[in-house]
Amino acid sequence: MRIIRAKDYDDMSRKAANIISAQVIMKPDCVLGLATGGTPVGTYAQLVDWYNKGDIDFSQITSVNLDEYRGLKRDHEQSYWYFMHENLFNKVNVKPENIYVPNGSNMDADAACKEYDEIIEKVGGIDLQLLGIGEDGHIGFNEPADNFELGTHCVDLTESTIEANKRFFNSADEVPRQAYTMGIRTIMQARKVLMVANGKNKAQIIKDAFFGPVTPQVPASILQMHPDFILIGDEEALSLV
Ligand code: GLP
Repeated sequence: MRIIRAKDYDDMSRKAANIISAQVIMKPDCVLGLATGGTPVGTYAQLVDWYNKGDIDFSQITSVNLDEYRGLKRDHEQSYWYFMHENLFNKVNVKPENIYVPNGSNMDADAACKEYDEIIEKVGGIDLQLLGIGEDGHIGFNEPADNFELGTHCVDLTESTIEANKRFFNSADEVPRQAYTMGIRTIMQARKVLMVANGKNKAQIIKDAFFGPVTPQVPASILQMHPDFILIGDEEALSLV
C-alpha cells in the first residue's frame, strides 16, 4: 500500500489523473475500472483537459464501471451511466461500444449481475481500478457486511449511504434502496487499484480502513492486502494517519 499526500482537492485530482494517464499511455488498449461520486469529478475534468490538449487518447480503452443504482434507467440524471457520460465519456474519444456499466434497468438482479461478471471476464479483467470511499468504508456499493461478496451482486444500501447520496437527489426518499455493484474479488483482481479521498468527513474511515483490522465490516480494509494499491488523499482526509 502506498499513500500519496496531496495538498488539496485539485492536487489530488491531478495526481490521480497522472496515474490514469500513464496507464493509458503505457497500455493504450487497457481496461479502466471507473468510479462515480463527488471525489473523482476533478480527476475526470483533468483527464478531459489533457485530452483536449492532445495529450491522452482514449480510443482503444475499455471501461467497466463499478456500480449502478437498481431501477434507474440510463437516461435518469442520477444514474451512474449518465454521470459517467456527463463527466467523461461524452467529452473524450472513448468508443461507445467499449463502455460498460451494470444494467440498472434490468430488475432481474441475478441476470444483471451474471451478465456483468461475464463482461468483465470477456474484456480480460481490469488493469486499473479507480475507487472512492464511502463514509462507512464502502467501495463501489460493497457495504459493511458479515463477509466479503465476491462477484457482482445486488445490495441493500445502508442508511449512511442513502444519507450521503441524497445530496444528488431532490430528497432521501428518491434515492434508490438497492444497487448492483462489482464484488470485492473483482476489485481485488484489478492489477492496480487507485483510491482518491478528500475532505474531513473521510479522515476517520481512512484511518479505520488502512490502519485497522481487515474486516468485511469495513469493506475498503481488504485493500491493505492488494499488491498494488495507491491511496491519494488530501491533507484533510489524511489528517488522522
Ligand atoms: C457512492 C459510490 C461510491 C463512492 C461513494 C463516495 O456510494 N457508489 O463508488 O466512492 O459514493 O462518494 P463521494 O466521492 O461523493 O464521497
